[in-house]
Amino acid sequence: MQRLIIEGGKKLCGEIKVQGAKNSALPLLAGCLLAGDRTVLYGCPELSDVFSACRILNRLGCKCSFDKGTVSADSSTLTGWDIPEELMREMRCSIVFLGAVLGRLGKCELSYPGGCELGPRPIDMHLDALKQLGVVMTEEHGRISCVCPKGLRGAAIDLPFPSVGATENIMLAAACAEGDTIIRGAAREPEIEDLADFLNRCGARIKGAGNSTIRISGVKKLHGCEYKVMPDRIAAATYMAAAASAGGEVGLLGIRCADLSAVIAVFEEMGCGIYCMEDRIFISCKLPLKAVRMIRTMPYPGFPTDAQAVVMAALATAQGSSMIVENIFESRYRHVDELVRMGADIKTSGRTAVIQGVRRLYGASVRASDLRGGAALTVAALGAEGTTSVAGVQYIDRGYEHPEKVLTSLGAKVRRAF
Ligand code: EPZ
Repeated sequence: MQRLIIEGGKKLCGEIKVQGAKNSALPLLAGCLLAGDRTVLYGCPELSDVFSACRILNRLGCKCSFDKGTVSADSSTLTGWDIPEELMREMRCSIVFLGAVLGRLGKCELSYPGGCELGPRPIDMHLDALKQLGVVMTEEHGRISCVCPKGLRGAAIDLPFPSVGATENIMLAAACAEGDTIIRGAAREPEIEDLADFLNRCGARIKGAGNSTIRISGVKKLHGCEYKVMPDRIAAATYMAAAASAGGEVGLLGIRCADLSAVIAVFEEMGCGIYCMEDRIFISCKLPLKAVRMIRTMPYPGFPTDAQAVVMAALATAQGSSMIVENIFESRYRHVDELVRMGADIKTSGRTAVIQGVRRLYGASVRASDLRGGAALTVAALGAEGTTSVAGVQYIDRGYEHPEKVLTSLGAKVRRAF
């Protein structure tokens, strides 16, 4: 079982180039399947979830290879429409392959997706929306079989909640459907815009991505293209939290400042100096940090749930009391008990967490049980006194490219133990 061993208390200083966005690369890889041609994606992060998506493409008969951040996927050889359970279980995002396979072949068989345990993560909105596009589903022994007897047909779909994955699935299925599709109540995350830009580059006709209403005019078929994955705003937020926890000055290059507005406002409230340019951000943090009044996680452009845990870790040693309300997932406080083992004073009740800042955290043996929770333990360890051992690194590897190398380049003392 791999661990990260972190000697805390070293200020972070320097510049890093931020990785490509996991949560964009995964739906784009599903989109490659729809293209029916050779597609090249640049800036794909080297992550276990990206490799899982490549395995799904290969399993379905595509030729997909990963080389130094570039994925080349030829989906002209696509033959399969059934995704085995073991591949579906590897990550939650495997579900967006449903819309893509249906869009290309008009049939698909798969099981319920796996992924990090953040409370119930149903896929009802995905399935209801696809049914409105003409998909007929039967379910047996946990396998969902989907066919489109009359082909995929455009529809007006109202989402009851702006689900990121459901919006992506509809876009993928509707890109080559007959007629027009309107999604109302669509997710507005920057990753949705990235998927729309990519599909449009492949010949789709999608307008309005980034707003609550998206319009898709179905086209007969797509073609391949070359595309660069957008930068990872959550990795950027995580390295900002690392700088806030340990203190120091860090430059994050190759990001899009505008995607981080809600996160930047919180770091400013914590007393960090932030200097933003279009594609880079500099954060300067003098300890101790200040507590923040209230953070409520919300769909974009609100404060992202994926940055909740890492910001909480930094707030553990801020002066005063901070409150967080987690509105997106029911059970996203699994890192709290581990932070408490390091000396944090955090109490949770339902969706609310109250963080009473302590003077310092202390190194301890802790265990990650999900991706962002693992990142939070790493952030806390960087500012703690003494050495921390973070187990469950396989979760962190789902979303962060070589975290120990990135942090070491900023002056942290982090190594991976095997
Ligand atoms: C995406 O997950 C991200 N994953 C998540 O990132 C992120 O936390 C989440 O969006 C919210 O921003 C990827 O992009 C691969 P949702 P997704 O559908 O699409 C409920 C990370 O750490 N819901 O917007 O699965 C759901 O249970 C990850 O990188 C239904 O009830 O999120 C949740 O409470 C984890 N029925 C809420 O909506 C549905 O059919 C938001 O889920 C779908 C969702």
